[in-house]
Amino acid sequence: MSEPTVVTVTGAGGQIGYSLLFRIASGQLLGPDRPVLLRLLEIPQGLGAAEGTALELQDGAFPLLAGVETTTEASRAFEGVNVALLVGARPRGPGMERGDLLAANGGIFAPQGAAIGAGAADDVRVLVVGNPANTNALIAQSAAAGVPAERFTALTRLDHNRAVAQLAAKTGAPVSEIDGVVIWGNHSATQVPDLSHATVGGRPAPDLVDEEWIADEFIPRVAKRGAEIIAVRGSSSAASAASAAIDHVSDWVNGTGIPDRPERWTSVALPSEGWYGVPEGLVSSFPARSVDGRWEVVEGLDVAPEWQARIDVSIAELEEEREAVRALGLLG
Ligand code: NAD
Ligand code: LMR
Repeated sequence: MSEPTVVTVTGAGGQIGYSLLFRIASGQLLGPDRPVLLRLLEIPQGLGAAEGTALELQDGAFPLLAGVETTTEASRAFEGVNVALLVGARPRGPGMERGDLLAANGGIFAPQGAAIGAGAADDVRVLVVGNPANTNALIAQSAAAGVPAERFTALTRLDHNRAVAQLAAKTGAPVSEIDGVVIWGNHSATQVPDLSHATVGGRPAPDLVDEEWIADEFIPRVAKRGAEIIAVRGSSSAASAASAAIDHVSDWVNGTGIPDRPERWTSVALPSEGWYGVPEGLVSSFPARSVDGRWEVVEGLDVAPEWQARIDVSIAELEEEREAVRALGLLG
């Protein structure tokens, strides 16, 4: 067996943490031959829940689990970390404005980014799940001196999976036959789930579903699915979010290509290098393949004017968020 990979999960005592940690311990994050050492970071109020989960992880007797450590110290949590899953975030409270939420999360993600910059392993990969995920990733990335920007990503895989599932349900095809979906922009209600390049069993999706369904049902259903889950379940998505986080990191480490579909892509939010006209540095969602352990944005897709108009709205929202956190002094 190789040396354990250090995986740090913040907000480990929360809902997503409870679902995520057992899947990591069982080998679903990195593969069946990669032992993991788990570090659980919590705030004092959440520490008991994280410690209880650590006991349950021990009781799982997972062969790949080399150890579990709980801490409230970011410097300890990120020392030598290879994979950092930043889940813990400040939820929006009653009467809180968007700016208040960004400020509260800046107080979490700037110190965590700095601790990653100071102590992480050279190959560190970071996935931000806690909302507002894209801008929290930007804050952490900007505080992480010495870590390449491309190592900071935010989760739009849940949106991608939701889009695949909706198209599968509409066409009656299994999800395994769907390819080429794209989520553009922010992980918020302005996101753009795009079917123009999607295929179902090799056939173009736009030939199988009508434009009204795409505009009036598919896009709003996917973009507002988070709110739908909250309304129906009484709290935000947890197991599906954890599952998407597993998909994201597993693809990042092991590659997106599969034997019969080497060109397969997924959706990932990562710091823009100007792709598709998205301003440099904004953490926005793009179609991307993972090749040799790195995300490569799929370039050159045609974006029709009606889709571009939707994407522009989401990019404008990300720019507003960036300006708000810049004004708060949160971008180093
Ligand atoms: P939760 O409230 O159940 O758990 C959050 C945990 O984070 C709590 O235990 C809390 O104590 C901890 N925490 C708060 N501040 C922390 C800090 N500074 N350091 C370490 N831990 C800290 O919430 P949840 O349901 O697990 O969701 C977590 C986040 O994920 C939320 O922001 C939620 O909106 C977001 N989310 C994102 C997606 C996505 O697709 N990007 C999907 C679902 C949920
Ligand atoms: C989701 O997409 O399910 C979550 O981001 C919703 C939320 O606000 O926590």
